[in-house]
Amino acid sequence: MKKILAKNVKGKNCLVRIDLNVSYNEENIKLKSSKETIDFLLKNGAKKIVLISHFGRPQGEKENYFDNYLKEESLYIFADILKKIYKHKVWFISESIYDPTFDEVFNSIQEGIVLLENVRFYNENTDLFLEKMSSLGDVFINEAFSVSHRDSGSVLGLSEKMISYAGCNLVKEVDTINSFLKKTKKPKMLVLGGAKIDEKLKIGKHFLNEDYDFLLLGGALANIVLRYIGFETGISFVGNQAYMVLKNLDYDKVILPCDFYVLDENGNKAYRLINQIRKSDNILDIGPKSIKLFFEYLKKAKTIFWNGPLGCVDDEDFDDGTRMFINELLKLKSNILVGGGDTLDIVTEFKNRISRKKNVFISTGGGALLTYLENEKLKGLKNLE
Ligand code: 3PG
Repeated sequence: MKKILAKNVKGKNCLVRIDLNVSYNEENIKLKSSKETIDFLLKNGAKKIVLISHFGRPQGEKENYFDNYLKEESLYIFADILKKIYKHKVWFISESIYDPTFDEVFNSIQEGIVLLENVRFYNENTDLFLEKMSSLGDVFINEAFSVSHRDSGSVLGLSEKMISYAGCNLVKEVDTINSFLKKTKKPKMLVLGGAKIDEKLKIGKHFLNEDYDFLLLGGALANIVLRYIGFETGISFVGNQAYMVLKNLDYDKVILPCDFYVLDENGNKAYRLINQIRKSDNILDIGPKSIKLFFEYLKKAKTIFWNGPLGCVDDEDFDDGTRMFINELLKLKSNILVGGGDTLDIVTEFKNRISRKKNVFISTGGGALLTYLENEKLKGLKNLE
């Protein structure tokens, strides 16, 4: 995919895949990441800019999603947020692209920015979807690095079917990640947290098998390993499919938290050391001793890659551990790459400090970044063969 040029967009309807899969916070780095491309399109005479995105993972009978106006996973609310970010009017079309009234509304808008409803309200991997969606633009622009690891119709399908370009931020992100990869020096440490357990553990293991020196775990990833090696984890979330990966993980290189905050049987927040967890406890955050332990390792690292929160950051009672972690991380001088995804909101709080730090790069991608790094490593290995 080539970066968009002015001559590719003048007078064209541009279908732009962005990623709005975040909370409704206009300061969020991911939400702002499409601004440069949108400004570029407006400045260079694009006709209609048609924005498409997913939000959440809607399940069930897809046709029903368009029945109720203002569903939970509707993109409706983002029209206003994007308007503030782009400083430009953003129309929202709530109808399904298959609904006859959709064409009427769509065609009545001659130019400007239009946001369509959540692409995951459709079955994206059908010819019908690709046919209809691709007819809405002359060119396709991918400005969603964070979802580029998915082979869904709105990402891969449209990029194959239409004349396609990469958005400004996507290009910038890939360039920065590549230059990070070139600069990595040992000791290298990987910090993983969050809830997408199976995906992340597999990749963590792969990194350890390569040349990463330590894997530090928080969040549900730590819970599952603790349970596997025989610690009580109460009713904490541990997923259910990662046992194969856990079997031959190099445990000498795995660093686990040693204290936590839990929700106890009475629904109260309580502090526990690792051997004090009760059967009724739900582990929701990492404790201060664990942060101290993590930084005994991390301060020796020359390269740090962090992906995923160390606690339940959606709940303000349990986001202190992750916040404390970021605060300490930003004191280090090592080369630091942060995978966004579910940490972007909390990371955004530190944006002023981050913008002054040349050694820290925040990617909009969580899973996408891990997948990209893994593929780059595999490519590197193939080149050596
Ligand atoms: C993300 O938030 O990591 C991306 O939007 C991808 O979302 P997904 O994991 O639901 O595909």
